[in-house]
Amino acid sequence: MFSSFPFRTAKKILFGTGTIEQVGTELNGIGATNAAIITDATISQAGWADKVQAALDAAGMKSEVWDGSQAEPSLEVGEEAIAFVRTGGFDSVVGLGGGSAIDIAKGAAVGLTNEGNIMGWIKEGFSNPLAPMALCPTTAGTGSEVSDTAVFATPELKVGLVSSMLYPDVAIVDPELTISLPGPITANTGIDALCHAIEGFQSVQANPLTDALAIESMRMINRYLRRVYCNGKDIEAREGMALASLLAGIVMGNADTTIGHACGYAYVYPATDLHYPHGHAIAITFPYVMEYNALAQLEKHALIAEVLGEDVEGLPLRDAAYLAPIAFKKLMEDLRLPLSLQEVGVTEDMIPMIARNVLKSPNHCRRNPREVTEEGMLELFAHAYEGTLSWEM
Ligand SMILES: [Fe+2]
Repeated sequence: MFSSFPFRTAKKILFGTGTIEQVGTELNGIGATNAAIITDATISQAGWADKVQAALDAAGMKSEVWDGSQAEPSLEVGEEAIAFVRTGGFDSVVGLGGGSAIDIAKGAAVGLTNEGNIMGWIKEGFSNPLAPMALCPTTAGTGSEVSDTAVFATPELKVGLVSSMLYPDVAIVDPELTISLPGPITANTGIDALCHAIEGFQSVQANPLTDALAIESMRMINRYLRRVYCNGKDIEAREGMALASLLAGIVMGNADTTIGHACGYAYVYPATDLHYPHGHAIAITFPYVMEYNALAQLEKHALIAEVLGEDVEGLPLRDAAYLAPIAFKKLMEDLRLPLSLQEVGVTEDMIPMIARNVLKSPNHCRRNPREVTEEGMLELFAHAYEGTLSWEM
């Protein structure tokens, strides 16, 4: 017998090379006439904002570009975007960029139809439906275009604006927008997508729909991430990663993440002074999260190992399950990612503080399939510090 479950995502998804050309007809079709394009300077300079403006123009729409988005956006940057959209006579928002620009665009779309500010909406919610919104990722990894969350950084911690109203009217996933991403960003965002798929698969909120999407996402990332890392012009691999990231984003938008993301957040800014890219930060501690959780979900972790290319034929279930973190570490090695916390500036005396930081993320802990204890986190981070799984020690 199956338990009941909800499943939500963007109202519409457009996937495929060249689909960015349809942004104007999509928005105009739901009544928009004047769009604020929220992006960052790099994307703008690469000509993508011009391309979006041309597509809006072709559909008879006016538009203006705000390109002040930054990585790991602060509340202040979010408020700047909100001030921009409130003064330009806009009736719609286009988010164009990586996860940061898209999260800022969600905040801006809330600000267009609601009084107040981001921190107030996080604490008390907001009531007015959003103006028409199109979200167009330029990386293959964050999945933010199909999630109900916008993350901002305060000096103390990251905070999430969460609402089912943050799903866009249309998510336009055009793999061509990712073609010029350099190898390290491709690796950073691609491994983040894999963590979204695996964590969503582990999550206590997983359901048969998210499990099916998560497995296919893992399979595609294992097939295409190495290829696209070696040759960014491999359009089939770019398409494969864009689709895999989209699937993982849909998984995350429903099942959400486990302590994989909490462990990655626990040792970087704003929890510490260490600045490190999101995907890499999650990935370094992720083999140890998989090792921690495998005991609670032997069948699921044996399947992860198989999907990530390990030969599990004839193995006892426990042995197959513990190949999952090994498979993940092989991918990290191939992507030339650091394999231990000590390689990225964490010192041994920081470990107790970092371990306690995980427990400050109650929602990640609640969704984790294995109970999260301080003792367990101390052991997990001791392994992550050395870069060694327990049976490798
Ligand atoms: Fe992530």
